[in-house]
Amino acid sequence: MRERDGAAAYDRWLADLERRHLADLTFPEVSRALRALSAAYVERRQKLGEGAALAGAGKRAAFALFYGPLHFLLVSHIVRSLAGAADPVPTVVDLGCGTGASGAAWASACAGAPRVVGIDRHPWALSQAADTYRTFGLPATVHRADADAARLPAGRCAILAAFTANELTDDARDRLLDRLVDRGARGDRILIVEPIAGSIARWWSRWRAAFEAAGGRGDEWRLRAELPPIVAKLDRAAGLDHREITGRSLWLAMSATAATRAAGRSASS
Ligand SMILES: C[S@@+](CC[C@H](N)C(=O)[O-])C[C@H]1O[C@@H](n2cnc3c(N)ncnc32)[C@H](O)[C@@H]1O
Repeated sequence: MRERDGAAAYDRWLADLERRHLADLTFPEVSRALRALSAAYVERRQKLGEGAALAGAGKRAAFALFYGPLHFLLVSHIVRSLAGAADPVPTVVDLGCGTGASGAAWASACAGAPRVVGIDRHPWALSQAADTYRTFGLPATVHRADADAARLPAGRCAILAAFTANELTDDARDRLLDRLVDRGARGDRILIVEPIAGSIARWWSRWRAAFEAAGGRGDEWRLRAELPPIVAKLDRAAGLDHREITGRSLWLAMSATAATRAAGRSASS
């Protein structure tokens, strides 16, 4: 997608989010829900996998309107910073797509508008993600499935799990790690994004070791981005501080030559 088209789509997406999510709720209602949602992310990780974060109109609005744009900005920065991440690819798979913010960020940074496959267990998230991908002009399908068990496209993919792996059970997360490392070895690009938060440390170091053993890397990110006005306003009203956006990532991608060799091997096996 050309830079100018991308900026116009981003502005349109933000305007749509604000219109939709502030249609039936007042700003104070959304900012109160944002406080509750942020507390849920910090304190009640085990409830997240049961869908607690998206229970109720206020939390959904806060998630879509506040965290969606923050995730978009962070993932855009990451995929523009990692060599080869924004190279053309036929399909971006957005695991635990939520409102589609992170998947749209990656796909719209890639040359040639890849197809996006959004996967989530939550029907509300899937409907929001479909709207997001459409607003960015990305051909897309969405599927209700578990992130660790969903069928993945057979062809070459870029596979993203942004702020998703931490919501899985330990067993599901282990299964996902095995699948992702296997897909990486076959030539897919794999990107995992999570916050820099203590609750994640438990599994992150094991994932990082597995990615590094497969030739990948781990990074921490801190960026000062221009927050959309509604996000900055919610940030202040909820007593948060996202003037600096932070996150960490795991990245696995073979060189083009190795990926071509791997594709040849799996086609002939
Ligand atoms: C924090 S949100 C992140 C959404 C999006 N990736 C983003 O970056 O904004 C986590 C998403 O993972 C989904 N999720 C949680 N457990 C899941 C599972 N086992 N399978 C599929 N999706 C899951 C939730 O429904 C939610 O939409």
